[in-house]
Amino acid sequence: MEFIDLKTQYRRVKPSVDARIARVLEQGAYVMGPEVGELEQVLARYCGSRHCVTVASGTDALLIALMALEIGRGDEVITSPFTFIASAEVIALVGATPVFVDIDPRTYNLDPGRLEAAITPRTKAVIPVSLYGQCADFDAINEIAGRYALPVIEDAAQSFGATYQGRKSSALSLVGATSFFPSKPLGAYGDGGALFTDDDRLAQAMREIRLHGQDRRYHHPRLGLTGRLDSIQAAVLLAKMEVFDDEVAARARLADRYSELLREAFADEPAAVRTPYVAPLNTCVYAQYTIEVEHRDAFVARMTALGVPTAVHYPVPLHRQPVFEYLGLPPGRFPVAEAAAHRVVSLPMHPYLTEADQVRVVRAAKQAVG
Ligand SMILES: Cc1ncc(COP(=O)(O)O)c(C=O)c1O
Repeated sequence: MEFIDLKTQYRRVKPSVDARIARVLEQGAYVMGPEVGELEQVLARYCGSRHCVTVASGTDALLIALMALEIGRGDEVITSPFTFIASAEVIALVGATPVFVDIDPRTYNLDPGRLEAAITPRTKAVIPVSLYGQCADFDAINEIAGRYALPVIEDAAQSFGATYQGRKSSALSLVGATSFFPSKPLGAYGDGGALFTDDDRLAQAMREIRLHGQDRRYHHPRLGLTGRLDSIQAAVLLAKMEVFDDEVAARARLADRYSELLREAFADEPAAVRTPYVAPLNTCVYAQYTIEVEHRDAFVARMTALGVPTAVHYPVPLHRQPVFEYLGLPPGRFPVAEAAAHRVVSLPMHPYLTEADQVRVVRAAKQAVG
């Protein structure tokens, strides 16, 4: 059993992927070819955004958003301590200071109730992360940020395809940034990412930054990057968009089935496993199906011995990462994130899981809780 099975998906989309890649190879426009513009139109329409700007990775998407907003030295940017390193890394990369706000224990997303207390005159943006495929509480976050005129950048790397109050992740705030890393809900066959906004000026700035800050050939009013998405990755993503709605539905159905099987298996000890909570306003795209168990590390070791792969997203909250030691944030500073980091474990999840796979995973989990 694989944690994420991309090969079964490939067999499904192979005719379209192969044909589209062959067209790129034959036409020879390997960078900024027609597939890139076509994909941007498809994705913008999908999210209900005026603009989509594809980029080289989810990390570049966040970085380019911060650069376009001219955030840098002396500025503070608020984000979650319970996320992948990239969410805070980009803040430090532009020379600003990451400021962490603890999470909601049920959704694992930035707790809007703690946001206002973290805002200072130096705060220049907020980056809520929509973790595991579920959007943060954007109405509450946008309302607080709006009172301080702070731009909100959604880190939608794990939540592309999810909805919040019927609106698509990536289109819930001034700008949304997603990732097309292969294991993400919408994954390329290499690195990729995209930015979404309704703001024309911001979209133009982000387009320029992904191309070395160029507004016309060899004329550079600002600094930028080699931040483009390859034509071949755009071709792959166009093919995968043909089945994406179906895959999002499958993920939700499989997650419900996992929760049902776990409830049945642990009916005699319901406190032993906590299944995912999805807030009433949300649909989750289950980039991860993440449970909580008491003795997580022993659980992981036993699952491995039983032949069931698991993953821990994430064992160390960002304020405890060596690279952020300079922030001087001690253990215990973000107790909800720290408790989650000790307890969470993700089970195999992808749209092509079978009932037999799920039964096997849950049987193993019952044994592994021990
Ligand atoms: C929450 C989060 N933010 C940002 C990123 C960065 O995306 P990428 O790997 O495409 O640079 C990831 C990817 O793992 C992520 O999970």
